[in-house]
Amino acid sequence: MEKEKITLSVIKADVGSYTGHSKVHPELLDIARASLQEACEQGILIDYHVVAVGDDLELIMTHQKGTDNSEIHKLAWDTFSRCADKAKELKLYGAGQDLLADAFSGNVRGMGPGVAELEFVERGSEPVVVFMADKTEPGAWNYPLFKMFADPFNTAGLIIDPKMHKGFVFEVHNLKEKKKILFSLPEDMYTMLTFIGAPSEYCIKAVYRKDGDGERVAVSSTEKLAFVAGRYVGKDDPVCIVRCQSGLPAVGEVLEPFATPHLVAGWMRGSHCGPLMPVGLADAMPTRFDGPPRVVALGFQLNHGKLVGPVDFFADRAFDRARELANRLADYLRRLGPFEPHRLPSEQMEYTTLPVLLKELDAKFTDI
Ligand code: 13P
Ligand code: 13P
Ligand code: MG
Ligand code: MG
Repeated sequence: MEKEKITLSVIKADVGSYTGHSKVHPELLDIARASLQEACEQGILIDYHVVAVGDDLELIMTHQKGTDNSEIHKLAWDTFSRCADKAKELKLYGAGQDLLADAFSGNVRGMGPGVAELEFVERGSEPVVVFMADKTEPGAWNYPLFKMFADPFNTAGLIIDPKMHKGFVFEVHNLKEKKKILFSLPEDMYTMLTFIGAPSEYCIKAVYRKDGDGERVAVSSTEKLAFVAGRYVGKDDPVCIVRCQSGLPAVGEVLEPFATPHLVAGWMRGSHCGPLMPVGLADAMPTRFDGPPRVVALGFQLNHGKLVGPVDFFADRAFDRARELANRLADYLRRLGPFEPHRLPSEQMEYTTLPVLLKELDAKFTDI
């Protein structure tokens, strides 16, 4: 008999926030929880956990309907829509920001929300970590996913654990061209780095194990709002799911990359780069210059699809120094003001509100 599969779906959207782009209002969280609770009672979901990371509302859900399931996606869409209605009533900022379609059309992909889903047979013990970031974009996961699954200086298991020694397969997407490619690491490491080192163009979508049936063990959301809307409507604040232990990176190896706050795009008006600061849920609230960008890591043990947890990993003081370094980097970068590399390079400003202004100046340029 085939073992029962569980799907872990993380679907998120910014449906309005206060004050400005800082926080999700508690009334929106209540509405989302009530909506998912009802879905549990109706047998649509096994379990759920709703949190806010900055101005992003995150729905963490388990069920047995597989990935890209229209019933689950409709549940997420309807939940976000109800929250957006409340956000409009409260006159919150950017109410309905990420709901880019008028009506649900079968799948939330391409409609604004960010989606990361994994379907798998639950192991004897199934530790997972859900990462959620605000004020950045999908490429922000390239550096940490590479470290977790490919860098032996980060992940001791790549050397020590016989089940990890062969490495992992990475699926990389070019989001603009809508193309994907697989890299088998460690053999293809140098080639892959030429692509993923440019996170505004190439994103790691998923990681597969080489052992056993080659299943997906990590997945990220790669929705880009500007590509959907054709204009700047806020950042694509991404999520990422990583399964851990027993032939996969240990939880500590999965968290370790965030001890170095790498520079990511998406700070202030989606137009600046800044350090990705690991924080606990209580500090997942961008302030300074609408940032710096934040990342939260919630750990769960799955128990027949029930979400046992969460453990709010980055609340731990072991990440104090990473926060300190992030603040120092923020001090330095802020001093550069409108100058690159704090301000994003021109190619990336194409997806902000700047082109509108530049167009008006076209006529004033004369030949040299
Ligand atoms: P597992 O191989 O059982 O996942 O344990 C790894 C470990 O010791 C974590 O530090
Ligand atoms: P969000 O993408 O989180 O809504 O932030 C938008 C912004 O412009 C912040 O400065
Ligand atoms: Mg916002
Ligand atoms: Mg946001």
